[in-house]
Amino acid sequence: MLRGNKIGLRARHDDDIPILRTELYDDVVNAARAEGAPWRPITPGSSDPRLVVDDKDAGKVPFSVVELETNTLVGTATFWGIDTHHRSAHIGLGLLPSTRGKGYGTDVVAVLCHYGFVVRGLHRLQIETLSDNVAMLRSAERNGFVREGVLRSATWVMGRFMDSVLLGLLAEDWKPDTTA
Ligand SMILES: CC(C)(COP(=O)(O)OP(=O)(O)OC[C@H]1O[C@@H](n2cnc3c(N)ncnc32)[C@H](O)[C@@H]1OP(=O)(O)O)[C@@H](O)C(=O)NCCC(=O)NCCS
Repeated sequence: MLRGNKIGLRARHDDDIPILRTELYDDVVNAARAEGAPWRPITPGSSDPRLVVDDKDAGKVPFSVVELETNTLVGTATFWGIDTHHRSAHIGLGLLPSTRGKGYGTDVVAVLCHYGFVVRGLHRLQIETLSDNVAMLRSAERNGFVREGVLRSATWVMGRFMDSVLLGLLAEDWKPDTTA
């Protein structure tokens, strides 16, 4: 397990899947805002790649996020688009609704940075999020990510196009929190 101050990142367990499906992926608005594809219902027990891990996919590392104090599941975090030539990757995360706004998102981004820069030796991490997602923007910026650009009307969300923000962090600019 990778540990932050408040949360840990561990492997996906089978009993995480129904919780993540119900709380994150069955929520049409959350799915429309967080994913790059239209929402569709997921059949229980299906091998949806967003939930069921393919350990052979070297370009993607999915984690389940747990609260360290109680060891309960609080969400997902994903390293994706890992490029070993340019030494870069994208990160994404989603927390269960009742666990948002408690500092966990900021902590998850910190642990993903540790994974990317220290464990994987990457040079650049990238995040894309909707321009109105203040909690995601702040979680990223708290960890040193900078806004590199706005992708105007790039994302179709529930009946309208919205702007996306591209944020990046380079290894040499990363200042790890050493209090964890
Ligand atoms: C985005 C998300 C991961 C952020 O995690 P979080 O635990 O809620 O965020 P934190 O508690 O660490 O807060 C980070 C900052 O955002 C602010 N914030 C949190 N929720 C907020 C809200 N609803 N509105 C405005 N600001 C908010 C906090 O005050 C904090 O600001 P600060 O750094 O200036 O103190 C989480 O809210 C989430 O899962 N949202 C739904 C899915 C999603 O949007 N995923 C990202 C897709 S790219």
